[in-house]
Amino acid sequence: MQRLAVRSLQARLACLQCPPSYWQRPKLFSTAAPPNPSQISSRKRVVTVVVAFLGGLSFYFVLPDPSRAAPTYQQKPLSARHFTPATVIANEDSGPDTKLLRISVKPEILARSDPNGFKAAWSVFIKDDDIQVERPYTPLYGIDEHGHMLFWIKKYPRGEVGRWLHTKVPGDKIELRGPLTTWGWKEDTWDEVIMISGGTGITPFVQLFHSVISNLSVSPSTQFRLLHSSKNPEELPPSSLLKPILRFSKENPDRLKTNLFVDTSDQASPDYDLSVTRINEEAVKKNLGIYRQPLSWWKTFFNRSEPEPLPKRRLFLVCGPEPMVAAVAGPYGRNMSQGQVGGVLGKLGYTTSEVYKL
Ligand SMILES: *[C@@H]1O[C@H](CO)[C@@H](O)[C@H](O)[C@H]1NC(C)=O
Ligand SMILES: *[C@@H]1O[C@H](CO)[C@@H](O)[C@H](O)[C@H]1NC(C)=O
Ligand SMILES: *[C@@H]1O[C@H](CO)[C@@H](O)[C@H](O)[C@H]1NC(C)=O
Repeated sequence: MQRLAVRSLQARLACLQCPPSYWQRPKLFSTAAPPNPSQISSRKRVVTVVVAFLGGLSFYFVLPDPSRAAPTYQQKPLSARHFTPATVIANEDSGPDTKLLRISVKPEILARSDPNGFKAAWSVFIKDDDIQVERPYTPLYGIDEHGHMLFWIKKYPRGEVGRWLHTKVPGDKIELRGPLTTWGWKEDTWDEVIMISGGTGITPFVQLFHSVISNLSVSPSTQFRLLHSSKNPEELPPSSLLKPILRFSKENPDRLKTNLFVDTSDQASPDYDLSVTRINEEAVKKNLGIYRQPLSWWKTFFNRSEPEPLPKRRLFLVCGPEPMVAAVAGPYGRNMSQGQVGGVLGKLGYTTSEVYKL
């Protein structure tokens, strides 16, 4: 009986990443007859653990999608559980297929909302009323005291919320729900945070720049690097977003380093220092100077007296179009879970605790 209890615990430990509701499930093994302890082979134990793990996974995948049923409330505080109306203030072109959209929620609604929700990095879901589809967008500078939020929004050729948002004019109403934490920033946790973005994938990093990076008293010992790529110079983020980041990098090179990449360029850009390449293995190695050299056995053996430098606590954040995320860090797993670390970072030996795909 004691062996059985231990097995059950092992199974649950294997499933720690499941949502809390998993723990309320009936005991997985309660119907099994108590086995004769001498007959439990280690192989059988492994099988039970794997089965329990898969059970937890499938349970995870059938959780209801909260967005479908989310109602709209006019006056309630902002929440991810319901939609809140907002008004379009401005919607201006900012390059090929992109616009800068400014919207506002009523300041009295904001005043009643929980300020803890607006911590880096957060986003909101905006709903396309015509087709009842929602997409997440990151407010570039968070939300100000007037309830204003600014978004950089790309329009894709096929039925996307972005396309619908591009048709909005000042005075139009849209509905959003949030804030939702895209990724939880932690202070004094990493020596180096490397942000890799493509296209509008830069938006969470712009938010992080304004809330964390540009404030030198927040995690003062953490260094940041931004590697951003766009198809061509015209598609780079508008200069109102990019210039403050580049200026800050120049003035505070110990805090932030920024490198811009384009796939193609007809001529040298007058405004920016651009590398014409994808963010591939060469580019990552060259710009970061990171070669993770595994210690060879003889070095460990003969060179023990030499103190090893402490390994850097390094975190990669990757955000962009799916093919780019896949090339840099491997594809997402099922249901947009993190999946394995692959691509360039996988090849360089980085693991799931060091890489986060936004
Ligand atoms: C996960 O994906 C499946 C289809 O592959 C879908 O039916 C299910 O609702 C999804 N679960 C969540 C939590 O998104
Ligand atoms: C910078 O961060 C500190 C500590 O969190 C905070 O007290 C201060 O208000 C911030 N400064 C700005 C300009 O946001
Ligand atoms: C010990 O390691 C250092 C660098 O880690 C290297 O420069 C040095 O040559 C090594 N010495 C021996 C005897 O291997």
